[in-house]
Amino acid sequence: MTDTDAVTRFEAGLADVREAFGSAFGEAADEQSLRAANAKLTGPEGTLTKLMKLMREVPGDRRREFGQAANALKEEVAAAFDGALVALAQAEREAELAAPHIDVSLPGRRPKPGRLHPITRVTIELVDIFTALGFDVAHGPEIDLYEYNFDKLGFPPDHPATDMQDSFFVKSDGARSMLRTHTSTIQVREMLKRKPPLAIVAPGAVYRRDDDITHSPMFFQIEGLLVDEKVSFADLKGVLTRFAQRLFGPDVGVRGRPSYFPFVEPGAEIDISCVFCKPWEGDAARTAACRVCKGTGWLEILGCGMVHPVVFESVGYDPEKYTGFAFGLGIDRIAMLKYGISDIRMLYENDARFLEQIG
Ligand code: PHE
Repeated sequence: MTDTDAVTRFEAGLADVREAFGSAFGEAADEQSLRAANAKLTGPEGTLTKLMKLMREVPGDRRREFGQAANALKEEVAAAFDGALVALAQAEREAELAAPHIDVSLPGRRPKPGRLHPITRVTIELVDIFTALGFDVAHGPEIDLYEYNFDKLGFPPDHPATDMQDSFFVKSDGARSMLRTHTSTIQVREMLKRKPPLAIVAPGAVYRRDDDITHSPMFFQIEGLLVDEKVSFADLKGVLTRFAQRLFGPDVGVRGRPSYFPFVEPGAEIDISCVFCKPWEGDAARTAACRVCKGTGWLEILGCGMVHPVVFESVGYDPEKYTGFAFGLGIDRIAMLKYGISDIRMLYENDARFLEQIG
């Protein structure tokens, strides 16, 4: 290859590129084809890149002249490419503005009205049932004294029974405080404030070291307390039967099993007939196959008992004069039974898809 040959080829190359780039950039309909056209010139295998490499073969006395011409052309190409990019973006924007941008024929999006959380709804329902039976509603703080949560309820100091209600402990002003493990703290507070007769229910959040599909470390309880002269276990059974039947229907049966809580004597767990297989309808096979009550026909729903004289002493009531009963139940558990929810955590995930399904 001679030097003159290189000169000729270089000149032809310059002319080719000069002629080609304007139309190549102008014809590109979108950014992608514009970039492809640019790559054909300035990419590693591009015509302009190859031309630059040819420079080595151009005779020394003409190199400067050609070098300048090639560089000028390179700048022209770069400027034209930038210009074409801007023009494309502008054209796109104009097309967007010119196009109709609201389709008035599409159906609108209805805003979804919020509603009360299932826990709140069940709480209201339970409170309604008990206020209709003559109970007042009482509230108390979620962080309360250890003394109110345990000591005044007859838990001996550091008794293993407190392990069943392990919680989070807080130091405030030197007093031993904790996140309450039951709303019985409110019963203590009310008894310290008031004299019998008294009948209260105390709903609220409680905290325990518990976490599985039927237990949450924070859950809701409603506890009841009635104190007067000559209150008997029959009164307790009457109130709880009435309560269960108002909540789940008149056919629901109630039974008690002896149980232990330090603040009651005697104590019991109360079961109601299974509200899923409805044993009162007499279909024994359905009950046998029921996964909720595991074939027993009964569901455990609450703890209760006659208030222990020790509790009355600790709040200054005369245990010779007064008797009373107390009960406590999980609101979450009632919500799960009422709405057929199998995992308690669903109640706390705030997933709208779940909450919308609750009627
Ligand atoms: N406080 C008890 C608990 O949280 C429930 C209960 C209340 C049991 C009243 C008996 C009487 O487990």
